[in-house]
Amino acid sequence: MRTSVIAGNWKMYKTVAEALEFFSRVKLADNRDRVETVVCAPFVTLPALVKEAKESGIRIGAQNMHWEEEGAYTGEISPSMLTALAVTHVIIGHSERRAYFAETDETVRLKTRSALDHQLTPIVCVGETLEEREAGRTRELVREQVVAAIQGLSSREVCHLILAYEPVWAIGTGRSATAEDATDVIRFIRKSVADQFDQQVANQVRILYGGSVKPDNIETFLQSGEIDGALVGGASLDSDSFARLVEAAARRGDLG
Ligand code: 13P
Repeated sequence: MRTSVIAGNWKMYKTVAEALEFFSRVKLADNRDRVETVVCAPFVTLPALVKEAKESGIRIGAQNMHWEEEGAYTGEISPSMLTALAVTHVIIGHSERRAYFAETDETVRLKTRSALDHQLTPIVCVGETLEEREAGRTRELVREQVVAAIQGLSSREVCHLILAYEPVWAIGTGRSATAEDATDVIRFIRKSVADQFDQQVANQVRILYGGSVKPDNIETFLQSGEIDGALVGGASLDSDSFARLVEAAARRGDLG
């Protein structure tokens, strides 16, 4: 069975002091060792969080990075700056970056390639807008985004990355996709990976759901065994609710 993942995406929330307060409860979550637990935090909090999370098994991730090693790119952060801090994961192509910061399938491809070259685990986000869903374009869009991100990678590299299906209309709206809808699209994403590589590779890729996941709905997503965990915004900001998500994912094997 694929290891479950719970990844918090803190977006533009929490100062260093607020970030440090978060950890005590999460460290106590039951069976946390069964789950790959990641907190993707704002850049300026990363050094303090890596130190705080040391020996807890909780991984610290970034929410973006540039693909180049270094250069005249004012305001950007490079992959080696992240690895120098012992950051292990990085979110790539979040829909907020696609919508507000001109992220494209091509920059997602470059960043995914670069993250893997630096032994960072990319959490690559894909998903459709409400308009695209209503136009019946979900599968076509999601396949395009997935194929763009994984083209040119080796099978081994694809097995190492994490994909996250986050329908844009479900993010921060309190309106999550139904478990059936999310499972259906995630099954389709796995098939798209199999079409590009093979079924064995596709079976190893972790695919998460994101969009209004909360402690009281996460079990419905994990029940089928098809969805390997969640990428969580709002509900990852509160340490008790984040810990409960981790505990639910630790029970995943027992849910089906
Ligand atoms: P919410 O959980 O707040 O809907 O955000 C989802 C998300 O964007 C995670 O990356």
